[in-house]
Amino acid sequence: MENDMGFWTDRVVMITGASSGIGKGLALDLIARGARLGLLARRENLLEEIVNGARVRGGKAFAVAADVRDADAMRSAADRIRAQLGPIDILIANAGIGTSSHISQLDPIHTANVLSINVLGAANSLAAVVPQMVERGKGQLVAISSLAAYRGLAKSAAYCASKAAMSSYFESVRIDLRGTGVGVTIIHPGFIKTPLTAGRDAKMPYLMELDDAIPKIVSAIEKGKKSVAFPWQLATVVRAGMLMPTFMYDWIAARNSFRE
Ligand SMILES: NC(=O)c1ccc[n+]([C@@H]2O[C@H](COP(=O)([O-])OP(=O)(O)OC[C@H]3O[C@@H](n4cnc5c(N)ncnc54)[C@H](OP(=O)(O)O)[C@@H]3O)[C@@H](O)[C@H]2O)c1
Repeated sequence: MENDMGFWTDRVVMITGASSGIGKGLALDLIARGARLGLLARRENLLEEIVNGARVRGGKAFAVAADVRDADAMRSAADRIRAQLGPIDILIANAGIGTSSHISQLDPIHTANVLSINVLGAANSLAAVVPQMVERGKGQLVAISSLAAYRGLAKSAAYCASKAAMSSYFESVRIDLRGTGVGVTIIHPGFIKTPLTAGRDAKMPYLMELDDAIPKIVSAIEKGKKSVAFPWQLATVVRAGMLMPTFMYDWIAARNSFRE
């Protein structure tokens, strides 16, 4: 059986949204485990800092500046990563934005932006790697979704819709890919300390340190889990919410706004 280090050694991993937060945290962790990384985001200077840090430590990483909303740019980004590092073994579709959107300020442009980055961006990332993975008969697609995927939350219409769509999209893909050798892992984290949650006034129950969240994501990928949700306390609350009658859920959810 492969040990933890063995799993990642020389694996080519493409991470979208690698310039900050969870994506950066995963990049730093996986470099230390011996993976070869293709790092994608719009802020190239931040990616280059990670790449240079990797080189100093003897690791191999490659930065590509691209916007996940641009399907052609994503395909050519994946081509460049393959040319530099070899076939992509694992895609971590992590790029995303999280915003507050009370219905009274609902702006169609805002909603379109959240959906195009969080949903279409993930679909573009997936399309850039799936044909080659299927051809090779192996690969793993990882979605960084959210506990917000499970039910609607106050002031989060666009975000909840985007994460529900992302989880459903990857779940459907998992079913379609049965028997091809390509697996799908959907991660549903609760609140994690990153630039996305920084400065929020709203309560964020069971807010996790990034360093505590990263090993949970890494372990789920190693084990080839189909779906994981953490932290367990908030995941249990969310699962209980899924079983509640709608009137009860609405009453409780209206009293718990997780967004300012
Ligand atoms: N933090 C949490 O509590 C939490 C909880 C559950 C799920 N998540 C999910 O985890 C993912 C990462 O979030 P985070 O907390 O790490 O936030 P973050 O620190 O703000 O990172 C977001 C990343 O996405 C990239 N990105 C945003 N728009 C992009 C675009 N159009 N094209 C390419 N890259 C883009 C950003 O890079 P550039 O700006 O350089 O492009 C950045 O690297 C998101 O999908 C988020 O929904 C976060």
